[in-house]
Amino acid sequence: MALAIRFHEQYQPDHSASLRSESLAGFAAEQKSISPKFFYDRRGSELFEQICQQPEYYPTRTEEMILRLARQQIAELAGRDASLVELGSGASRKVRLLLEALHPSSYLGIDISRDFLLSSTHRLAADYPWLDVHAACADFSQPMQLPEEALGEHPLAFFPGSSIGNFDPQQALAFLRNLHEALPSGAGLLIGVDLVKDSDVLERAYNDQAGVTAAFNLNLIERIRNELDSDIDPARFSHRAFFNKAESRIEMHLVSREAQQVRIEDQYFDFDAGESLHTENSYKYTPASFRDLAGQAGFGAVAMWMDPARLFSVHYLQRE
Ligand code: AVI
Repeated sequence: MALAIRFHEQYQPDHSASLRSESLAGFAAEQKSISPKFFYDRRGSELFEQICQQPEYYPTRTEEMILRLARQQIAELAGRDASLVELGSGASRKVRLLLEALHPSSYLGIDISRDFLLSSTHRLAADYPWLDVHAACADFSQPMQLPEEALGEHPLAFFPGSSIGNFDPQQALAFLRNLHEALPSGAGLLIGVDLVKDSDVLERAYNDQAGVTAAFNLNLIERIRNELDSDIDPARFSHRAFFNKAESRIEMHLVSREAQQVRIEDQYFDFDAGESLHTENSYKYTPASFRDLAGQAGFGAVAMWMDPARLFSVHYLQRE
C-alpha cells in the first residue's frame, strides 16, 4: 500500500525572499504590479478552489466535462505504462478523472504552494493505494528539473485550468521551452487552454457575484501585510477585472480607493486615488493561436477537444 508520498525537497523555492524583492520592485514601477504566483498561499489556494465552484467561472466545469468525454482517447494516446506529471496540481480533482482511465505507473504532483501540494498528494495516495505518488514544489516561471524516478519512460505532463494563460505569450513560450527541456522526446502534454469569447461572459467569470474573486485578489495585500514589514491595508483597495481585447487577456487590478502612501520595510510608495496595482493577466487563445505557440516550443499537435459552446479547449501535444 503506497500511503506515503515521496516529496522531492530539493525543489523548494524560497517564496518569502521573492515576495519581498518582487513587491519592492513591482511597487516602484510606473504601472505598479506584482506576479500572480503570489496569490497561492494556503488561503489563496483555498479561495481559488472556491472560485472554481462559482457559477460564473465556467473554465473548471467545462474542462472537467471535456476530460470526462475524452479520457478514453487520452488514455489510448498516452499508452499503457504512462507516468502522469501534473503541473500546478492544486486540489488534484481533475487528475482523478485521468487516473482512473490511464492507470499510470506513477504520479508526480508539482505546485508552488508546499502545504497545499502536500495535503492534496497525501489525499491522492490514500485514495489510490496502487499509485506511486511523488510531490515536488516548483516555480514554473523558472527552469525546471523534474525528478527522474518520477518521470518513467513515457511521461504525460498535465497542465489543466488554463494556467498557461497567466503567463504573457513570451513567458508562456519560455515555460513551454523549459518543459520541453525537462521532458524526454515523445512525451505527451495535455493542456487546458481558455478560449477567446464574448467579453461579457469573460468579465462575469472574473467578477463573481459572491465576491470570491475579489477576496482572492485582495488576499495578495493580506500576504504583503502579514509576511513583510508593511502597513498596507486591504480595506483601502478594491478589486477590478476587465477584458483587454487588444491584448486578448483578462486583467485583474487592485485599485486604490483614495490617495495614500504605503510603506514596505523602509520604502514608501504613493498611490493616487484610482491608481492600480496590476495583479494578473489571464490570456485567452484561439485553437490555432495556441497550436502555433506550442509549435514554436517544439510541441506538435496530436488532438484537441472543445465543448459545444467553444468556451474551453484541451490540447494533446507531443514533445518533438
Ligand atoms: C489559475 N488561473 C488559470 C486562473 C485564471 O482564470 O486565470 C486564476 C484566476 N484568477 C481569477 N480567477 C481565476
